Amino acid sequence: MVTGGARAVARCDMLGVSPYSDMEGGLYRAYLTPAYTAAQGRLAGWMEEAGMTVRRDAAANLIGRYEGTDATAPALLIGSHLDSVRDAGRYDGPLGIMLGVEAVAALHQADKHLPFPIEVIAFGDEEGSRFPAAMLTSRAVAGTLSPDALDLRDGDGVALKDAGVDISAYLSAVRAPGTTLAYLEAHIEQGPVLEAKGLAIGTVTGIAAQLRFQAVVTGQANHAGTTTMGLRRDAMTGAAEMMLAIERIARDDASDLVATVGRVDALPGAPNVIPGEVRFTIDVRSGNEDRRNRAAQAILVALEDIASTRHLSLSLQQIHDLPASPCNPALMDLMDAAIVDTGHSPFRLVSGAGHDAMVMAALCPTAMLFIRCKDGISHNPAEHVDPADVEIALQAMMGFIENLGETFVPA
Ligand code: GLV
Ligand code: MN
Ligand code: MN
Repeated sequence: MVTGGARAVARCDMLGVSPYSDMEGGLYRAYLTPAYTAAQGRLAGWMEEAGMTVRRDAAANLIGRYEGTDATAPALLIGSHLDSVRDAGRYDGPLGIMLGVEAVAALHQADKHLPFPIEVIAFGDEEGSRFPAAMLTSRAVAGTLSPDALDLRDGDGVALKDAGVDISAYLSAVRAPGTTLAYLEAHIEQGPVLEAKGLAIGTVTGIAAQLRFQAVVTGQANHAGTTTMGLRRDAMTGAAEMMLAIERIARDDASDLVATVGRVDALPGAPNVIPGEVRFTIDVRSGNEDRRNRAAQAILVALEDIASTRHLSLSLQQIHDLPASPCNPALMDLMDAAIVDTGHSPFRLVSGAGHDAMVMAALCPTAMLFIRCKDGISHNPAEHVDPADVEIALQAMMGFIENLGETFVPA
C-alpha cells in the first residue's frame, strides 16, 4: 500500500515537469505563470479528493478547507509554497502543501472532524523568483503588505497588476486577527543537520532574519577595442569588486552570518562592449538581527566606496526586511511530543532558509517541522527526500494536529 508520505512525494514529482514547470528539462514555477496556474488546477483536484472545498484568494493563494465540528472556531492553517526557484528541486515548498493534503485526507477517510477547521494553503511567491519582492502572498494573508509594495514589474516588464491578479482587491486576502488558531509548515531542511544526526525529522525553533537589496551599478558602455583601460568606467569590474567585498565582510564575521549575490544581469551583454550597467541582488541573513544589520551597513559603506573610487554610480533598493521569527514555544513542545509518539527522538534546530512561516508569525502562533534531505542539498534539481522520512513527518503532523485542540491555548 502506498503511504500518505510516499504519495506526497510522488505528487511533488508529478508537479516537477511540464505543464507544471515553465522550463524545458527542469523545474521553474514562478508566481502567476502558466505553470503556476496548471499546478493550482492539479492541486485543487487533490484537495477536493481529500474532502476539502477549494477557493483561490485575492492574492492567488489556493486554499482547501476541511470543516471542524465548530465551523466558527479559528482554523488551523497548514501550508507552504507552490512557486519555485529557477532550476529547482521538487520538494522545497510543495512537500509541505502535499503533507497538509495528506493529513486532511487521513482525517476524511476516518470520517473524523476536529474541534477546529483545517485550511491547507498553497502560497504563491515565497521564493521571489519573478518579481523584485518575496513572500508577497503570505504577507497579504498576514496583513503586513502595503499597497505600494504591489507596484512591481517582472524581468520582462510585465506589471503585477497585469499578471492575473486584481491589485485593487489583493490586500483583501488578509485574515482577521483571532481567526487563525496556528500555522503549521512542514519543509525539507535544506541543510545537513538532520542527516548528520541520523534523524528523519526535527522541530524548528525559529527562522533567521533576512535583508534583501537590488543593486544597480552604472558606468559607461563603450567600445571594448578602443577604450584604454585607464579610461573605462566598467560597471562589471566594479560590481565584481563589490561582490568580493560582500563575501569578505560576511566571512570576517565568522558567525552564522551569510551574504549572497544570487542574480547578476550585465547590460548591454555583448562581448565587444564594456558593460554600462550591472544589476545584482544582495541577500544577508543571520539568526541575530543586530548582527545582520551591522553587516548590511558595512556592505553598503564598502559598496559606496568602491563605486566612488571607480567613478561609478550605485543605487540600492531594499527589497525586503524580514525579522528573525521564533516559532511558538508551546507548539514546539507539542511537536516534540508528537515526534516522540512516532517512536523517534525529538530534536530542535534553527532554519537559515526563509519560509512563509516567518511572515505568518505576525498573524498567529507558528510551528515548523523539518524533514531530512539528502546531502543537505536544496535550490538544486538534485534535491532529494526519502518517502519513509516523509511518512514519519506525516505521522508526527497527525499527532500534532490531533493534540492541538486539547492542549494548545493561543496567547
Ligand atoms: C527561500 O528559500 C529562501 O530562504 O530564500
Ligand atoms: Mn526555497
Ligand atoms: Mn521553501
